[in-house]
Amino acid sequence: MFEEYKSIIEKTLEEYFDERLKNPEYKLFKNVIESMKYTTCLGGKRLRGILCLETCKMFLGDFKAAIPAACALEMLHAQSLIHDDLPCMDNDDLRRGKPSNHKVYGEAIATLAGDALISFAPQIIIEKTPKLISAEKIVKLLYEYSLAAGAFGIVGGQTADIEAENSNEKISIEHLQFIHKYKTGALFKCSLLLGAIIGGANENELDTMRAFGDKFGLAFQIKDDILDFTSTTEIMGKTVGKDENSNKSTYVTIFGLESASEKLTNAIEECYGILNSNGLKSDVLQKIIKSLEMN
Ligand code: IPE
Ligand code: IPE
Ligand code: MG
Ligand code: MG
Ligand code: MG
Repeated sequence: MFEEYKSIIEKTLEEYFDERLKNPEYKLFKNVIESMKYTTCLGGKRLRGILCLETCKMFLGDFKAAIPAACALEMLHAQSLIHDDLPCMDNDDLRRGKPSNHKVYGEAIATLAGDALISFAPQIIIEKTPKLISAEKIVKLLYEYSLAAGAFGIVGGQTADIEAENSNEKISIEHLQFIHKYKTGALFKCSLLLGAIIGGANENELDTMRAFGDKFGLAFQIKDDILDFTSTTEIMGKTVGKDENSNKSTYVTIFGLESASEKLTNAIEECYGILNSNGLKSDVLQKIIKSLEMN
């Protein structure tokens, strides 16, 4: 199922961009659409989209109704990567094994492409979902999307991340958890919630997915911090070793590799615990959590 979800998301994303690229009306700003498509369609694990489709299925919905939302989540994720790589942020030249968006299109277009992805994503939900789900559910999706995309989600987390990098003070574990919860957890939580809402989850079940999303986001970012230390640029498709060199506050730079690994193991156990104690069964979710384990 994992691979099937991934290829559906990739094919549909291509379609959404190509519909616009071939429209002669848009020829004067085709460049920004190409830039949007470049990072979104470059590849990546597609975890946010896959989590959305699988969560929909877990709550007994038809996962096909969640395809536009899954693509929207991958667009928002691509936006966060494009802006994260800009020289004014992490200044990274490599993303998904290719030159970062601003290296290909320039900083101005990359900034605009990111902005445009933030609004193209909900546009797609509104355009492509109505025949599949109720208007009431669409409003709920858009609310969760707005929370994740803005100051009370990724933008807030990225702000706290950049401010911690610029300050010389050592930050506390609570502070670091807060950064991770927003910069990374917000989008994972949103991915689970969108799938759960479309699938028909009730309020209690949505709260369970919120708790799971927080834990999963934390585990995922701790693993990303560890990989920045232990993996290679070739494997990751992005420049590794930068967190330490640029004074980033991460689990590894603050606690060291061993303690970061222990904290990762604990966060992973808590992820399994939330699923098990709520009787939530999903091979796809299990596989994704397992992929975070230390080898
Ligand atoms: C990268 O996310 C950004 C972080 C939150 C660390 P992924 O590791 O999921 O990136 P892709 O989508 O596979 O490229
Ligand atoms: C990224 O954290 C979180 C985002 C919102 C993009 P990082 O800055 O560690 O992500 P990578 O390592 O560049 O993918
Ligand atoms: Mg960053
Ligand atoms: Mg970065
Ligand atoms: Mg990183």
